[in-house]
Amino acid sequence: MTTTPNANGSLTAQALTVELGDRSYPIHVGDLGVGDAAQLAHLLEPLIAGQQVAIITNETIAPLYLQPVLSALGQRQVDVYQLPDGEAFKTLESYEAVTTFLLNARHNRSTCLVALGGGVVGDLCGFVAATFQRGVDFIQIPTTLLAQVDSSVGGKTAVNHPAGKNMIGAFYQPKAVLADTSVLATLPQREYAAGLAEVVKYGVIDDPEFFVWLEDNLEGLLARSPEILQQVILRSCASKAKVVSEDERESGRRAILNYGHTFGHAIEKLAGYGQWLHGEAVAIGMVMAARLSILHCGLAESDAARLESLLDGLGLPTALGEHDLSVDGMVEAMGMDKKVSDGRLKFVLAQNLGDVVICDDVGLDVLVGVLREQMGLPADHG
Ligand SMILES: NC(=O)c1ccc[n+]([C@@H]2O[C@H](COP(=O)([O-])OP(=O)(O)OC[C@H]3O[C@@H](n4cnc5c(N)ncnc54)[C@H](O)[C@@H]3O)[C@@H](O)[C@H]2O)c1
Repeated sequence: MTTTPNANGSLTAQALTVELGDRSYPIHVGDLGVGDAAQLAHLLEPLIAGQQVAIITNETIAPLYLQPVLSALGQRQVDVYQLPDGEAFKTLESYEAVTTFLLNARHNRSTCLVALGGGVVGDLCGFVAATFQRGVDFIQIPTTLLAQVDSSVGGKTAVNHPAGKNMIGAFYQPKAVLADTSVLATLPQREYAAGLAEVVKYGVIDDPEFFVWLEDNLEGLLARSPEILQQVILRSCASKAKVVSEDERESGRRAILNYGHTFGHAIEKLAGYGQWLHGEAVAIGMVMAARLSILHCGLAESDAARLESLLDGLGLPTALGEHDLSVDGMVEAMGMDKKVSDGRLKFVLAQNLGDVVICDDVGLDVLVGVLREQMGLPADHG
């Protein structure tokens, strides 16, 4: 980890590296000055080789943070594409619109794209970068907590298809990630809490001391203290970077990043995308995975209770109500009804906090029991 001076000369910004050989890149974390063009220019200057830059952002973020980024880019040709806000625009149509915009503005292979926004902007911009002129540089300036601790790191880029989320995409790493804690001040509370769900996940899958630290720093987390946020982002990114460095293309261990997500994706899909934020569905999914972990790999009841209590303390949902979704629907949405016979559905389960395994031998009866319990249904009715 390295430390660099911020605009005031004090040592606040810190950086860590995602180690991927010649595609390694830094993640800068702290008060990086997205509100302060001079400091931002100091970070961006060495990252941009050419004279062309395109900033991809959206109509919510642009009025808040576009101006300092523009100023930091100096005398280059800088073009800005503003998407409408929302997951509904992470599509092939938006991909085509951005690509056409770049071609019309005569961007060439030495251009650099800058993703200024949350995971939607980052995923779309990354996919454009992966494919425009067979691949151009891109820099992530994530503006949601979820994007800072998760989606901007690791190189998964994608757009959605009517048949499913993230169905069209590529693994393509950015040149750098600039995670500025100060931009989180304007993030709506629900979006902030949803990002915290992914933060808690790193404690469960990789870093038990971080889990305890989160329990001990609940107040600072809720208050969005800049010092606390810097630690949260650094430690989350350190876990993600470690996992990604070991398995960039998810042929094995990277799947542990999906802890709680098998349940979470089913909840999102079944309830209809947009009803639950991704992080909210993952929070419920992590509790379900913990209950399954108790039965399947010996997680202590007390550790599952700690997870539930931490998520609850952070303002996240931890259970589905009886009437929210059906057990059969969940089983179907998870694909368990089809996959259980050949045992292919994988669950990431915890043996201890900070120690997870990937299991493909969970029985349907055990899964149904956990879902019934989590929905407040009696155990003995089908
Ligand atoms: N690539 C990956 O590895 C990966 C991992 C997890 C999630 N994702 C993807 O990320 C997306 C979700 O990302 P998200 O949660 O950041 O949602 P988002 O990008 O939709 O942002 C959430 C909302 O917050 C607004 N916003 C963003 N920054 C703000 C700020 N600083 N102040 C005020 N408002 C702000 C956005 O305009 C939007 O309305 C999904 O498409 C998901 O598939 C990708």
